[in-house]
Amino acid sequence: MSEQPDRSVLDAQRSHWDSTLDANTDMFGLEPSEAAQAATARFRAEGVGTVLELGAGQGRDTFPLSEAGFAVTAVDYSEIGLARIQGRARELDAAVATCSCDVREALPFPDASFDACYSHMLFCMALTTAELHHLGAEIRRVLTPGGLVFYTARTTDDAHSGAGTTRGDDMFEQGGFVVHFFSPTLVEELAEGFEILDRFEFEEGGLPRRLVAVTMRRRPDDD
Ligand SMILES: C[S@@+](CC[C@H](N)C(=O)[O-])C[C@H]1O[C@@H](n2cnc3c(N)ncnc32)[C@H](O)[C@@H]1O
Repeated sequence: MSEQPDRSVLDAQRSHWDSTLDANTDMFGLEPSEAAQAATARFRAEGVGTVLELGAGQGRDTFPLSEAGFAVTAVDYSEIGLARIQGRARELDAAVATCSCDVREALPFPDASFDACYSHMLFCMALTTAELHHLGAEIRRVLTPGGLVFYTARTTDDAHSGAGTTRGDDMFEQGGFVVHFFSPTLVEELAEGFEILDRFEFEEGGLPRRLVAVTMRRRPDDD
């Protein structure tokens, strides 16, 4: 029988992220990720104005997106990460909104309030498959019909997939971090209500992490 996700283990990730981001200022660096650069090009081409960023961390992609001219709302459940973003926003005089929120719950925004959603390495956090489906439905709700999602997730081709402690639902814990490794099937399943426009694989960091970047559009006739 496969391992059932243990709620208390998954819940503990929040304080783990807080302490990790507290101990590592600019943990992922200050340069925009390859994902943010690709998303910026796509969002510009589609005339996007407002962007919801989920799992913003310390904002390495938040500020490049803001500098590119998008009105960014950065969401994370780490108060430490959000405090870093707010501090940088003051330093840079950047108009970035922040929101403390656990994406396993309803997103605290009205229907159809964003043109696009950007999310680098949040989907592959300690979220069960059921929670990912709920998140997909919530993103659909807060996006305008025809709105775009650009997300990335570590994949089952990643060197850490299948390694460490199994946590159920293709989640594995290594070095205190629980990661949900995405199969091509999961990418397809999460596209319910969306049309997949593009997907590409890329690597990041020293391991390297192996990721998939997926661009989807909320179906214009979806209401
Ligand atoms: C791998 S980091 C990526 C940070 C940022 N996107 C980057 O690439 O620099 C994942 C982020 O997601 C946040 N996170 C994880 N689970 C979350 C949840 N359930 N709700 C909100 N944020 C979450 C963590 O606090 C962390 O900042």
